[in-house]
Amino acid sequence: MSRSAEPARPAGERYRALIHEPGVKSIVVLDQRALPHAVVHQSIEHVDAAADAIRSMVVRGAPLIGAVGAYGLALALERDASDAGLSTAHAMLDATRPTAVNLRWALDRVRARVAALPTDARAGAAWQEADTIYTEDVALNAALGKHGLALLRDLVAQREGRAINVMTHCNAGALATCGFGTATAPLFLAHAERIPLHVWVSETRPRMQGASLTAWELRQHGIPHTLVVDSASALLMRRGDVDAVIVGADRVAANGDVCNKIGTYGKALAARDNAVPFWVALPSPTIDWTLDTGDEIPIEARAADEVLRITGRVDDGTAGRVSIATDGTPALNYAFDVTPARLVSRYITERGIAVDVRSLHALHRNGSRGR
Ligand code: MRU
Repeated sequence: MSRSAEPARPAGERYRALIHEPGVKSIVVLDQRALPHAVVHQSIEHVDAAADAIRSMVVRGAPLIGAVGAYGLALALERDASDAGLSTAHAMLDATRPTAVNLRWALDRVRARVAALPTDARAGAAWQEADTIYTEDVALNAALGKHGLALLRDLVAQREGRAINVMTHCNAGALATCGFGTATAPLFLAHAERIPLHVWVSETRPRMQGASLTAWELRQHGIPHTLVVDSASALLMRRGDVDAVIVGADRVAANGDVCNKIGTYGKALAARDNAVPFWVALPSPTIDWTLDTGDEIPIEARAADEVLRITGRVDDGTAGRVSIATDGTPALNYAFDVTPARLVSRYITERGIAVDVRSLHALHRNGSRGR
């Protein structure tokens, strides 16, 4: 793995979370742990490095970890394309993060593509399949963004042209996908067509994806936004300062329950109590038709240290970590929660808008996933 660092780029310049140049047997990822203070790229040349990048959240976000997992499997097959090599690498990558179903979906897809091939053809086919997953994700983002944009246009019309305030949580942007995001895709499109828009960004304790990633992305695009602490969300809704909430998803069960970053459920409850529309942006690989309800979704529990210590830039400009509790304080760190389907006002998918779980099923012809 090699690393290169450069200052964070000025507003308006493009950035990509994952790059695979045709014919090259490695990938380059943006190290999201360094944002927003520096843009650092890592070249990943071995399956172990791909697994490590997902585990340590160099890359994160459901669609992106799926794509990096797919390339990881291609890297593994370059060195060992036997059945045993395939199944060991699949298991290792799958074990990196348990909640987002996109990872398993992408790994299964690459495995299904190569399993029947002779070993000398497997790596090439795996690279191709990973590239296809990448390009499909770009297209999913674009289609989903277009449908979400229609919702935003309606909202502006209802507000008679005044600026709309949309709240988001965590990061479901370009940094979480291969394209320009899921929950953020409609926001980027709305801004591009000059819809007056302001985004409330909740900081997303403990890893601060809202503060360090979403706020950074919105700034790159010049979209007006304000960072708030997670616990301010309900107050803002009660004051009438939020016109809609839009979030991404890590896994959606067949009954429409939505698993997303911890804190999403609380926002959905506050939204319902204050009659604020609560929208979930989800590409079809995020739906897990095998699970009846969200209660069956494995919730990742991460290290207590993430709660007890915060990483940031200290006054001399260097990155640092500070403790925020007495040494030895017990801490619990669930990374995701489940929002019941009844609290979701709209599912924004690449196939259109679903008003409830029945229409979500209808859009997917009762259980088909992307492809
Ligand atoms: O722990 P993370 O940063 O991987 O969590 C990401 C989220 O919860 C996103 O909202 C979700 O993956 C959707 S990304 C399009």
